Amino acid sequence: MGWRLGLLLLHVLLCLVNGVYSGRTSSYVRTEFPSTDIPLESEWFAIPNGYNAPQQVHITQGDYDGKAVIVSWVTVAEPGPNEVFYGKNGHQYDQKAQGTVTNYTFYDYKSGYIHHCLVNGLEYDTKYYYKIGSGDSAREFWFETPPAIDPDASYTFGIIGDLGQTFNSLSTLQHYEKSGGKTVLYVGDLSYADRYQHNDGVRWDSWGRLVERSTAYQPWIWSAGNHEIEYRPDLGEISTFKPYLHRYKTPYLASKSSSPMWYSARRASAHIIVLSSYSPFVKYTPQWTWLKTELKHVDREKTPWLIVLMHSPMYNSNEGHYMEGESMRAAFEKWFVKYKVDLVFAGHVHAYERSYRISNINYSITSGNRYPVPDKSAPVYITVGDGGNQEGLASRFNDPQPDYSAFREASYGHSILQLRNRTHAIYHWNRNDDGKHVPADNVVFHNQYWASNTRRRLKKNHVRLEHLEDLMSMF
Ligand SMILES: *[C@@H]1O[C@H](CO)[C@@H](O)[C@H](O)[C@H]1NC(C)=O
Ligand SMILES: *[C@@H]1O[C@H](CO)[C@@H](O)[C@H](O)[C@H]1NC(C)=O
Ligand SMILES: *[C@@H]1O[C@H](CO)[C@@H](O)[C@H](O)[C@H]1NC(C)=O
Ligand SMILES: [Fe+2]
Repeated sequence: MGWRLGLLLLHVLLCLVNGVYSGRTSSYVRTEFPSTDIPLESEWFAIPNGYNAPQQVHITQGDYDGKAVIVSWVTVAEPGPNEVFYGKNGHQYDQKAQGTVTNYTFYDYKSGYIHHCLVNGLEYDTKYYYKIGSGDSAREFWFETPPAIDPDASYTFGIIGDLGQTFNSLSTLQHYEKSGGKTVLYVGDLSYADRYQHNDGVRWDSWGRLVERSTAYQPWIWSAGNHEIEYRPDLGEISTFKPYLHRYKTPYLASKSSSPMWYSARRASAHIIVLSSYSPFVKYTPQWTWLKTELKHVDREKTPWLIVLMHSPMYNSNEGHYMEGESMRAAFEKWFVKYKVDLVFAGHVHAYERSYRISNINYSITSGNRYPVPDKSAPVYITVGDGGNQEGLASRFNDPQPDYSAFREASYGHSILQLRNRTHAIYHWNRNDDGKHVPADNVVFHNQYWASNTRRRLKKNHVRLEHLEDLMSMF
């Protein structure tokens, strides 16, 4: 009985592996809100009550290992107090940290007073309450620190990109809030304020208020996209990333980076490397030099999960932004394979796509393979540029779907990555309008460092193994 059932199951599996579940292009079309921004006077952008009340509150990791946060907020009438009061019991704030304040202009826009305050020396796995502002205008929030760095620490990340400020953006946020995600890995393009005349900074402020419902309570690990560049020599604005750098801090010094645009942070069992698609990265540049060194510092015995964030995807079979990530692929792909990166998340393309483990590192301009091939040491590339901004969906995919593309669909959504232990992570893509009749993308990832023996035993053709992973996650 047992062996017959086993054979039958094996037969079913082989049939599936050999065809039915090859790369999928989902033709599912979701009902969507219009691709226009929420009106400024909307309640979703409401200014908090009280004179000079802190608004646009957001936190991010403040150190290398997760025992610090940077709390940021904006006041409009005057700088006001600059402290964060915090503690482990609600309404009793027995500790305090002192922040700094900055402001900037962009053409005819004048920013409010932007506060940044490092709160450090925190305990792991602890809920902290914090208070900013004073008197009737004070506001209270909370956050939870991650577990200590440990190879088996389980932790859940959300991945969001290209969010913007439409009703689709709001829907993405609302879906993410129900996911159990503890920290957002943000893959660039935040407010899309640069789509307005003179890059109207008012839309940076409204975005900050829209996302506060999540960003005040859990860290968002930032990376910058092309909409953050804001290079406008015609307006006399010749420095790049000016509003982004004033508003969003990163803990870059803790990873010995020379720029807030690229850095890394360790959290639970993950080592997260953030790259900048729009800062120099070719050989000998600061970003290149930093990444070369940082990859050597990755300790998979402590943080098994090696995750890279960037804005422009290296593998993308959508007509939108096709091959824009090619220059970074040429610079960094061989390192990603050498160091067995688990996952590379990108945004930019307003659709969802996941690759198999493939590489094109043997391609050279004089000889060699000219097509990506299955490579068990390569990362899986995932594009999650489907947050819901005003530019709408990128619904035209290259046809036929390339062999390396496992799943692709032009719908709004976000992803969830649950690191379970050193060998297993459960991943899924959540479509905002989750039509129950259509499966969204679900995969079990095996760690590239710890699970390689299991992998060798199982596989011959790596692409097929990934199909198996797909299948196993369906059972
Ligand atoms: C920043 O705020 C100060 C104090 O209100 C003001 O004098 C200064 O002009 C502002 N700077 C910029 C760049 O807006
Ligand atoms: C790349 O070329 C090297 C040397 O010929 C070979 O050992 C390796 O298997 C190739 N890798 C891939 C992914 O084709
Ligand atoms: C790791 O997590 C996976 C998925 O939850 C589970 O099946 C496996 O037994 C776990 N391994 C260990 C060593 O706990
Ligand atoms: Fe983009």
